[in-house]
Amino acid sequence: MTSVISVADIAQHEGQEVAVKGWLTHKTGKGKLLFLRVRDGSGFVQAVLFRPSVGDEAFSRAKKLTQESSLILTGKVKKDQRAPGIPGGYELDVSGIEVVQIAEPFPITPKEHGVDFLLDRRHLWLRSRRQWAILRIRATVIREMRNWLDGNGFVLVDTPILTPSAAEGTTTLFETDFHGTPAFLTQSGQLYNEANIFAFGKVYCFGPTFRAERSKTRRHLQEFWMLEPEVAFAHLEDLMEIEEQLVSHVVQFVLVHHAKELALLERGTEKLERVLPPFPRLSYDDAVEMLHAGGFPDFKWGDDFGSPHETYLTEQFDKPVFVHHFPSEAKAFYMEPEPGRPEVCRSADLLAPEGYGEIIGGSERMSDPEKLLAAIRQHNLPEEAYDWYLDLRRYGSVPHGGFGLGVERTLAWICKLPHVRETIPYPRLLDRFYP
Ligand code: 4AD
Ligand code: MG
Repeated sequence: MTSVISVADIAQHEGQEVAVKGWLTHKTGKGKLLFLRVRDGSGFVQAVLFRPSVGDEAFSRAKKLTQESSLILTGKVKKDQRAPGIPGGYELDVSGIEVVQIAEPFPITPKEHGVDFLLDRRHLWLRSRRQWAILRIRATVIREMRNWLDGNGFVLVDTPILTPSAAEGTTTLFETDFHGTPAFLTQSGQLYNEANIFAFGKVYCFGPTFRAERSKTRRHLQEFWMLEPEVAFAHLEDLMEIEEQLVSHVVQFVLVHHAKELALLERGTEKLERVLPPFPRLSYDDAVEMLHAGGFPDFKWGDDFGSPHETYLTEQFDKPVFVHHFPSEAKAFYMEPEPGRPEVCRSADLLAPEGYGEIIGGSERMSDPEKLLAAIRQHNLPEEAYDWYLDLRRYGSVPHGGFGLGVERTLAWICKLPHVRETIPYPRLLDRFYP
């Protein structure tokens, strides 16, 4: 029996007779030669059929293969610098072919397709090289974020998706019915993280979060995945240090381990190589001045940044940049005001360069029970629903804080994609949740 290999490991099998199970992406040929480009999930390889070696019958069977036909090839692994593929540099000299299924005409062909056409066929589009590259980097980004936190004393504590109250304001809640009681899909695990730090010190949650955003931009999804660390006895400065280390680790890891994917995406690496701590820190006040000087003279102190503002600010730096001390009015109810200057809060957003903008939002949390209750009332939030949250300030309250990193926006930046819709396997957009 020849052993089935992963194309990703093909270099380890030079000279051996192996089997590859996969799908045909492309077929060309001339005379007695047929070239099959095959994908097996782990990589892409070119297989060569020479009519006199495989025999007439196998050769003509191979000629009938259509794009996306499933097959099992056996053959010898040959080194060839020029062989296309990922990892590339090796090809399969075919000795036998088993056709599993001849595919019907595949709707996605090498020609250009519009994005709506492709999104309607997202379940098939995932097979293309570009999507494969992006989603493999996504898997690594998620794994390495978690590895970094796991290696730095953070405990994964899962938080619920069905929740009785809002974490990030009431305007973007997806409402559902919990056996007769209104319930909401979570916007953030933060409030539960805040409970969990009193038991575990440093925690994080990672999962899908939901925002019924009426926004149709390249940065907004209705469902996105967020990594949320939370730390007891931490101040804003501590959070920024954690963030810059975490983000740098992930970016540098991707550079080393996904060079092929980045090349396939035509993502230059030079700018990513600079993503190392420390990141510049810019106060909101100074950011507003930069905007005034930089073509946004009408920007009002107190407003939250829109995309054009973030884009402008990030273009002034060659690394991700922290903007800290936002106006309290523009931010969520739980953020700790700056002592002596309550109109700003101890918050920081991390803006990704090259125009990508906010990838992390974080802050120190209000730790005083009375101040927090006043903030809940001021934001017209239902007090009963937050009673448990106030408990956290009644029993051993400490300064603490955390942040949320959006996986899709981070990945869009790392891969330099024009839109977040390609960063998640099945995007939920304002006007789309099929398939
Ligand atoms: O700034 P946000 O709203 O912060 C929170 O939810 C905090 N409770 C997190 C915390 O402190 N634990 O969201 C955090 C990040 C944003 O910076 C962005 O990357 C991402 O989540 N995000 C979105 N990504 C895609 N589509 C959307 N609609 C997003 N909304 C937020
Ligand atoms: Mg934010």
